[in-house]
Formats: sequence, structure tokens, C-alpha cells
Amino acid sequence: MALRLKLRLIRTFVITSSGLIVYTIADKFYEPVLKPALQLLDPESAHDFAVFAAKHGLVPKDKGKDWSGLACEVWGRQFENPIGLAAGFDKHGECVDAMLSAGFGFVEVGSVTPEPQEGNPKPRIFRLEKDRAVINRCGFNSVGSSLVSERLRRRLAHIHSAQPGVVGVNLGKNKDTEDSKLDYEKGVVTFADIADYLVINISSPNTPNLRNLQQKNQLADLLEHVIAVRDASLKERSPKARPPILVKISPDLTDEELQDIVDICLKLSVDGMVISNTTVQRPHDLVEAKLAAEKGGLSGPPLKDISTSIIQKVYRMTDGRLVIIGVGGVSSAEDAYDKIRAGASLIELYTALAYEGPGIIRKIKTGLSELLQRDGFQSVQEAVGKNVLVSSSQYGMRN
Ligand SMILES: Cc1cc2nc3c(=O)[nH]c(=O)nc-3n(C[C@H](O)[C@H](O)[C@H](O)COP(=O)(O)O)c2cc1C
Repeated sequence: MALRLKLRLIRTFVITSSGLIVYTIADKFYEPVLKPALQLLDPESAHDFAVFAAKHGLVPKDKGKDWSGLACEVWGRQFENPIGLAAGFDKHGECVDAMLSAGFGFVEVGSVTPEPQEGNPKPRIFRLEKDRAVINRCGFNSVGSSLVSERLRRRLAHIHSAQPGVVGVNLGKNKDTEDSKLDYEKGVVTFADIADYLVINISSPNTPNLRNLQQKNQLADLLEHVIAVRDASLKERSPKARPPILVKISPDLTDEELQDIVDICLKLSVDGMVISNTTVQRPHDLVEAKLAAEKGGLSGPPLKDISTSIIQKVYRMTDGRLVIIGVGGVSSAEDAYDKIRAGASLIELYTALAYEGPGIIRKIKTGLSELLQRDGFQSVQEAVGKNVLVSSSQYGMRN
């Protein structure tokens, strides 16, 4: 038997049997058993196993109670808490409910491409252990929008709760599509009626030319189009009941490029920005210098201050008029709080989950509640943008 096949069988056996073993004891054994086991696998297998585990109820549920001040309303939607799962973990919409039960206030599925595609050759995810960071060049591996939308529709049909949890869908484009606009149009048409928000992802560094869509003329054209498509697809719904459209931007833009994007978003009444995607920068102080040479987008702590400073700039440029989802290197309550005070209404994370496991969600929520109360806020919403000086007095309240 070919060595590759043998290895694959062994891996499948290890994954399935360890999955069964921990099935009933997820709570007690996640930390001492599952977490170290995941670190032994290569990063992509660990990720696949984590999704498998979540899908099969093996990820511990968050049994704690959130402080009431963490609940927030954004775009008229209720979020139980502002800490969400960033795109890239549940790319195919396989474990949304498990991740909500693990304590996230919302989940962003994707990126999803219209047609299925493999993405870049493996290995394409690298752990920079000593930096608690990751470099990935996945290149939008996706099962395609039909399957993902089918999963999300089935989920909604089976949910009996009046509050099924907030689920956004992050849209990408196929590598070989020449007409990018058409791919995003397809994504919007497919998901408009089931997504709580839609993200136009034009900032992955791993799809050739994708980031060029952030350029002024192309961006205005694209956003105008997808907004029109959303509105035409959901004519029967009132504008407020249509899913907000957000743009996910790169942390590697110049101030001028950022200003252009902000101007377009304000002009077209885009509903918000996800700030930010991974960076192609390689800060000098990375400890894992050799791995840092891998091509791809860097995430985790080295991205933290880069993304927070862009959040702050955008909040200032917009006088707080655009909703910001802050993402990049959040691994503690302080990190989340910094991004909120810089102007983010909601927070997302991914890399810290890969290193720390789902316990990090409770840790961040509890710590954030303490920080907010320590500083006299009644709710997370009150703290948004408090570190930013803005021109309009309406937004100028500061602590
Ligand atoms: C392995 C991996 C895959 C990712 N895939 C996507 C993706 O498909 N779409 C996307 O918009 N962002 C993707 N991201 C970026 C994350 O959503 C997030 O913006 C970035 O990792 C910064 O957050 P973090 O430091 O908390 O991980 C991915 C990140 C990682 C580590």
C-alpha cells in the first residue's frame, strides 16, 4: 500500500477514534488531552480536526453567564456578546452552532467562492509558535456557495429558537474568474436571504490581484453593484431587514488608499468595515524568522497593533459613522478592549482560538466585562471609540 494512503488511513483512524473517545467527556478532557493533541498535528489537520470535533459536539460549551452589558445591538440585530469568530475557521458553514455554543456572540462563515475550488497546494498554513502567530496562504479553499448555502438553510430550518444566533457570510471570488464583480454578485444573490451580514472580502493576500479591488474606481464600481444586487434580491424586505454589507480590508494600505476606501464606503452607505485581514508585512521582532519567510498573510499578536491603529484611523475619518468589526491579534480581554476603545463595535478572532482553544472565549468575555465595569461603562457600546478624538461633538464624548 502506498505510504501516502497508509498515512491517510492512520490519520483518519486517529481522528475518528480520538473523536469518539472524547465525545462524552469533552468538557473535562479538552484542555489536558485534546488541546495538546491538536498541537501535535500539522496546522491544517489540527484545524480540520477542530472543525470535525465541533461538528460532532466535542467542543465544550460555554456554561458561564455573560454580564448583561456585553449584549449589544448593531444594525438593529441583537448580539449576545461582541466577540465573534473570524472568517477562515468555519469556511464551509459546518460548525456554526457549536461555535455559538462555545460562547461566540456571532460567527462569520467563509470565505465562500461561487464554485468549489481547492485553494493553494499544501502545506499552506504555518504556525509561528514562539510568536503565537500563523502565516496562511490558503487561497480560498471552498466547497462552493451551493453547498454552504444549503447547510445554512438546513440549519435555519431546524432551529426552533427565536434567536438563532448571528451568522455572517464572507464572500470571496474564484481564482480563475476574470469578472470579479460577477462572483461577488453570485455570492450576494446566494446568501442575501440567509445571512445576517455579508462581507465583501477583497483583502486576502493569497488570491492574485484580489487586493487591487480595493483601488478607488474598481471598489466604487463593485460596491455600488453588490448593494444594488442585494436590494434587488430582497425587494420585499424593508431596507433595514436586508443584510448589512461590509468590506473587509487589508492592513497594508497607505493612508491615502484608506481615505479613498472610507470616502467610497460613506458615499455609498456601506454598512461597515471588517478591519483587518492578515498582513504581508513581517515585523522585525518576529522570533520565528525562518518561518516568517513563508509567503502568505500573517495573523495573531504581530498583527494586533497594526490593525488597531487602522481601526482608530477609520473611526476618526468617519466620525464613528461606520460600524467597525475589529480583528487582528486579539488574544486577551485587553486586546479586545483596545480595539473597542479604538472604534470597533464588534470583535473577531481566529489565531488565538487555534493556540488557546475555546476556553479563550470565556476568558475574554469575563475580562472584558471587568474592564468595562472598572471604567464605569454600563455597556460595551458606551466604550466604542472612547480613545479617539473625532471632529463632531456628537461623537466627541471621551473618558
Ligand atoms: C488559516 C486562516 C485562514 C483564513 N481564511 C480567511 C478567509 O477565508 N477569509 C477571510 O476574510 N479571512 C481569512 N482569514 C483571516 C482572519 O479572518 C482574520 O482576519 C485574521 O486572521 C486576523 O485575525 P486573528 O489574528 O485573530 O487571526 C484567515 C486566517 C487564517 C489564520
